[in-house]
Amino acid sequence: MRRILCIGAGYVGGPTMSVIAKHCPDVEVVVADINPERVAAWQSGQPPIFEPGLQDVVQASLGRNLRFTADVEGEIGKAEMIFVSVNTPTKTFGQGAGRAADLQHWEKTARSILQHARRPVIVVEKSTLPVRTAEAMERIFRNRRPDQRFEVLSNPEFLAEGTAIADLEHPDRVLIGGAETPAGQAAMRELVEIYARWVPRDRILTANVWSAELSKLAANAFLAQRVSSINAIAAICEQTGADILSVAKAIGTDRRIGSGFLRAGVGFGGSCFQKDILNLAYLCEQHGLPEVARYWEAVVALNQHQKERFVHRMVRVMFNTLAGKRIAVFGFAFKANTGDTRESPAIRICQELLAEQAQVCITDPQALEGARQLFASDDGVMFEPDPYEAADGAHAIALLTDWAEYRALDYRRIQAGMERPAFLFDGRNLLDPEELHQIGFNVYPIGRPDRTSL
Ligand code: UDX
Ligand code: ADP
Repeated sequence: MRRILCIGAGYVGGPTMSVIAKHCPDVEVVVADINPERVAAWQSGQPPIFEPGLQDVVQASLGRNLRFTADVEGEIGKAEMIFVSVNTPTKTFGQGAGRAADLQHWEKTARSILQHARRPVIVVEKSTLPVRTAEAMERIFRNRRPDQRFEVLSNPEFLAEGTAIADLEHPDRVLIGGAETPAGQAAMRELVEIYARWVPRDRILTANVWSAELSKLAANAFLAQRVSSINAIAAICEQTGADILSVAKAIGTDRRIGSGFLRAGVGFGGSCFQKDILNLAYLCEQHGLPEVARYWEAVVALNQHQKERFVHRMVRVMFNTLAGKRIAVFGFAFKANTGDTRESPAIRICQELLAEQAQVCITDPQALEGARQLFASDDGVMFEPDPYEAADGAHAIALLTDWAEYRALDYRRIQAGMERPAFLFDGRNLLDPEELHQIGFNVYPIGRPDRTSL
């Protein structure tokens, strides 16, 4: 393998190809995207996304064997292996709107590959796609170009944002799905050899294409389900006086359950969880499994409820009105260490706060630009890079993203500049409620006893 192309220079394509380029200095890695500004940013060594450690990895290979370009079609003709990592958001129109995956970018890419390929290519699906899309892709290719061989593999990406580089460098597993034909197996071996440069072979799993595709949806559904499960228990804790941290610890020490992914909070966000579950549910329905669809949909419904519950609690304890009150929103990204705001719980929470006619002042170390794109100043929203300024004159702080820097703030100083009584709603259980209470805050963590002295 001498030349790899990746179509789509986003959160998945950019980091993944940078790590492949790092470990395969003899392979030319090209990443092509239709968005010229994105391409220019990557090619300048300043990635358009914030991801710890990414810039160093990109800069180390740029100019050696890593290149970004907007010439998608030209590069297709030269590549031996083409990764497809274009966006596949939830459909917003027509059949399956709000649930099925929108495959228009994916299909355009497939047709473009069909038209411009100039040598036998292995096409590797990286985008999360509904099960059996590899088959659909093969059908797009099949018999249309007798002069040309296409082999389709599925290689779902399990990286999480904020830890993308570490996840790519030391993956729990790499999963490769291919056809059970000699050509399919040969293509899989080619891809295995690439990952084997840095991933131990026993962590490279192979499967048939459908199993690989379904595994990705299933993994995200299981992870999201854990978050909804712990949030559901947190709701009970708030009603009964139990502490979710104790409960999470008690259940997490059972080896069969495990301790990861049991942090209660304002709900999950990000581009994958909701999309993949809705996708899975849609798939179930199409295959005559409505009860299974309802089961998974409940995970998303609970997640919506968690965000609404957070705002209801704010309204209730702040004397049943937020109208005209300044609320400082600490954190807008869907989790720490990313600037990504896709499906961030902060979006819904800010909408609910605005519906209560609150004045919302958003601060975030990386996602302020993303927030600006979603809300306008004339909606009554302010954007403030400095958390101290954001909280100045506020009635309440709603902490929505688990940024470590929010732990290190001087809350005594913050409280001194706020209206009284000063409320702090810790939507991530990031801060020490007892300490804050002593400073003078009325503290409302998630699933833990309130500390109030109004
Ligand atoms: C996820 C999967 O982890 C990854 O394998 C897949 O490839 C893409 O989707 P990502 O969305 O980047 O990754 O972030 P993740 O760390 O999984 O967090 C998702 C959401 O769940 C975040 O909003 C996070 O704050 C929330 N979460 C996570 C919790 O609320 N509690 C937890 O215990 C864990
Ligand atoms: P993900 O999180 O799956 O990586 P992103 O939205 O971050 O999703 O990235 C997807 C990228 O794919 C975007 O940069 C977008 O411009 C690009 N893209 C979408 N359609 C095409 C296409 N037909 N050809 C090339 N790039 C595309």
